[in-house]
Amino acid sequence: MKKLAPIFNLTTFGCQMNYADSERIVAVLEQAGFKQTTSSQADFLIYNLCSVRQHAIDRIWGIINKIEKQNKNKKKQQIILTGCILSSDKKKFAEKGIIILAIKKLNEWPQKINSLKHLSAKRASLLASQAGKSIKTNYDNEYLNIKPQYSSHYSAYVPVMTGCNNFCSYCAVPYTRGQEYSRPVKEILEEVNNLIVRGCKEIILLGQNVNSYSNIQEIITSTRKMIKKIGFVELLKMIDKIPGDYWLSFLTSHPKDMTAELIKCFSTCFHLVPYLHLPLQTGSNKILKAMNRHYNLEHYEDLIKKIRQLNKKINISTDIIVGFPGELEADFKKTKKAMEKIKFDMAYLATYSPRPGTAAFKLKDNVSAIEKEKRRDVLNEVLKKTALENNQKMLGLITGVLVDQVKNGVAFGKTRNFKRIKILDNPRPISSKLIGNFIRVKITKANIWNLEGELVSNKVKNIQSR
Ligand code: SAH
Ligand code: SF4
Ligand code: F3S
Repeated sequence: MKKLAPIFNLTTFGCQMNYADSERIVAVLEQAGFKQTTSSQADFLIYNLCSVRQHAIDRIWGIINKIEKQNKNKKKQQIILTGCILSSDKKKFAEKGIIILAIKKLNEWPQKINSLKHLSAKRASLLASQAGKSIKTNYDNEYLNIKPQYSSHYSAYVPVMTGCNNFCSYCAVPYTRGQEYSRPVKEILEEVNNLIVRGCKEIILLGQNVNSYSNIQEIITSTRKMIKKIGFVELLKMIDKIPGDYWLSFLTSHPKDMTAELIKCFSTCFHLVPYLHLPLQTGSNKILKAMNRHYNLEHYEDLIKKIRQLNKKINISTDIIVGFPGELEADFKKTKKAMEKIKFDMAYLATYSPRPGTAAFKLKDNVSAIEKEKRRDVLNEVLKKTALENNQKMLGLITGVLVDQVKNGVAFGKTRNFKRIKILDNPRPISSKLIGNFIRVKITKANIWNLEGELVSNKVKNIQSR
């Protein structure tokens, strides 16, 4: 039987921004009549890539080699790459004849993929090399307004901005996503409104630097037209005003843009949940400077102090990089000490990975791989201790939980402050109908990475009560 439309499989690497982009890719392709299937059955294998560390790029080369071997024996599968790719890698992929499609030109994908179906390998490779050359980072970002195919009916990522102007010396993002772009307020409000009307219970606003959101809004009154600048705090407040039973949060924030007004939102915004992801990266001021982060440890600690003064229960997570060029044992000790003092609930601990084209790439990667691993392990032990201590402070509390899974009568979900929790079958097995709903739970056990609790009520109104 002749196939009517291409069938594809999509694999996503990287951060939530890439996952949000993938929901738009699926929407565009399915609207064009394409069908999603498993990776072994697909004609087109689409990979949405992340370049933040070399590891993910190495993995994709492994996949490419495997598919090439398979293609020699059985049916042909075409690889398509998209997402965050550094120009040095784009060149290498193009030389191999791998097609790269720019996420910012998502509207053109169906036509492009359709044309690939009829191409000879030689022509496809030519097209790939042209694509490699033509993919710049400065296309507009209107693709963000494509209505996504949300992967969940109760929890949604809503990108409010993309790109980054900060150029931290280690980071690939400004090169892969380009300059900061903030979506128009109207567009964001419409998307959030629609989600809430559909009964979505959790809205997570996304951006590489979500708190540097800045957009111009036109206000037209009967007498004149005015231009108003909307920053992240204003945007958050506008969204928060949308009535409904939902939780609101945002990631990722940059410490240099964490203003007093934004901190205040944790007590004034009704829907905003007590969760903040605030990357510290290192506890050494010398390394922070070399990283081009524009804050010092004292400033970061002061922010945390102010946030915790407003809300003791707030869950604070961070990102740390160990082994940045020039990180001496004494610098590392400062990171360890900072982590012990700040007592994070969660920390994503990365070993430094040199990224071609970044400022730090020119520096000697002089901390050995073994030493980097060792330092990361030491920090992981600190984290385990503080995460457990913080979780233990929640014992006995009754809190709202958004259920996302039910297995054999046991439910799993997220507390209002973004912690994983397992709810045991008390007093009766929990029904899978509760997936995507709020319940009230009493916390009975604290583990390092999660909590356990008992069901108090499965009919919950006013879930916002703190
Ligand atoms: N915009 C966010 C981070 C985006 S990248 C911020 O400003 O913090 C996500 C995380 O990846 C970073 O916080 C950092 O900890 C890590 N990362 C980025 N580049 C890296 C590199 N070259 N090596 C190791 N980790 C890196
Ligand atoms: Fe990367 Fe720094 Fe921008 Fe975050 S703020 S995306 S770490 S350059
Ligand atoms: Fe990776 Fe791109 Fe996100 S480089 S971390 S997927 S913005």
